[in-house]
Amino acid sequence: MNKNTLLYAGKAKSVYTTDDDALLVLEFRDDTSAFDGKKKEALARKGRVNNQFNAFIMEKLADAGIPTHFVKLLSPHEALVKNLKMLPVECVVRNRAAGSLVRRLGVEEGLALNPPVFEFFLKNDALSDPMINDAHIISFGWATEEQIAGMKALTLAVNDVLTKLFDDGEMILVDYKLEFGVIDGQLVLGDEFSPDGCRLWDKKTLEKLDKDRFRQDLGNVIEAYEEVGRRIGVTFN
Ligand code: TMP
Ligand code: ASP
Repeated sequence: MNKNTLLYAGKAKSVYTTDDDALLVLEFRDDTSAFDGKKKEALARKGRVNNQFNAFIMEKLADAGIPTHFVKLLSPHEALVKNLKMLPVECVVRNRAAGSLVRRLGVEEGLALNPPVFEFFLKNDALSDPMINDAHIISFGWATEEQIAGMKALTLAVNDVLTKLFDDGEMILVDYKLEFGVIDGQLVLGDEFSPDGCRLWDKKTLEKLDKDRFRQDLGNVIEAYEEVGRRIGVTFN
């Protein structure tokens, strides 16, 4: 599959066209960003680690019946994916309180949330990804009622699969963010799942093993991502 022209360069990934309009190449770069792109750094090995981590997770999700855009790995830092029309919203599920929920509601970090909390955010760095609700999504035409229901159901189905996967690796899946797109009228999981877009804590020590290490300058960011991968059975090349 030929990687043709650059279609879009995001903060951590670049998207290229291929000879087939239905397929794209995702290039995972070493660039790492936080706080809506205000904090940026290139971290060695990050592109390949996240690409291979994401491939492993997407395959687990597909095995569980969740439709994903992932087709196959092309190289250590590139993947072939289906060309989706992305919806401009981010779906967050929280099993424990952390991050913006703690800041917004003043609850203690680590508080268990039963049932898990689902939140929508608008994908817009200039506005710092504001939290939105179903009514905003409908009124502004960002997605349909049916797509909203589908995103909630799929994001919670992902929670069942991944909570168990990470628990087996002695980790707590604290929260995560997913993005969806549409292809031939079907809602499909897009973007990526990696320690860049979730929070993972060691079950016993509660050590942070995700992008909070970068946000909070805790060091050993990629070493932690590799440790998470190793614990769930990812082999890195
Ligand atoms: P938050 O605590 O900052 O709202 O984030 C909740 C989870 O979603 C956390 O694991 C980080 C992830 N997330 C992103 O990766 N990108 C985003 O733009 C947002 C809003 C959340
Ligand atoms: N990935 C987003 C950004 O680069 C959100 C974050 O992780 O803070 O701003």
